Amino acid sequence: MAYVVSEPCIKCKYTDCVLVCPVDCFYEGKNFLVIHPDECIDCGACEPECPTTAIFEESELSDDQEIFIEINAVFSGAKDPSDAALGSWPEALAKGVQSWPNITEQRTALDGADEAAKEKSKLLELTPEPGQ
Ligand code: SF4
Ligand code: F3S
Repeated sequence: MAYVVSEPCIKCKYTDCVLVCPVDCFYEGKNFLVIHPDECIDCGACEPECPTTAIFEESELSDDQEIFIEINAVFSGAKDPSDAALGSWPEALAKGVQSWPNITEQRTALDGADEAAKEKSKLLELTPEPGQ
């Protein structure tokens, strides 16, 4: 089991989570972060730090957020995309699938993060582009 970043992080990326992770297992997309499931030691430190409540232990995700288990695994480089159910992903996300770079420092939240934090359905806005 590992912790998973889910939908509320999209377009926010506050990165408070990165600051507390003892094993530096976060990976950065342009408007989202993911956790590498094999590197995460399940310590739970990041969960209460997220202002958007985006981080959950895998077994505590709601049904509509379970797609993020694979999204975290693929974009962190833990899972080969050919083994993922890309057919159930938004098309643009599946087409742009790749491994994102590791992130170990906190960054300024994205422009408009406080407004984006109030939005609900953001999956279609998740971009496969890597972070800096
Ligand atoms: Fe890092 Fe712990 Fe969060 Fe896993 S649960 S991502 S090890 S802070
Ligand atoms: Fe995202 Fe929350 Fe971390 S918004 S970057 S999961 S602190």
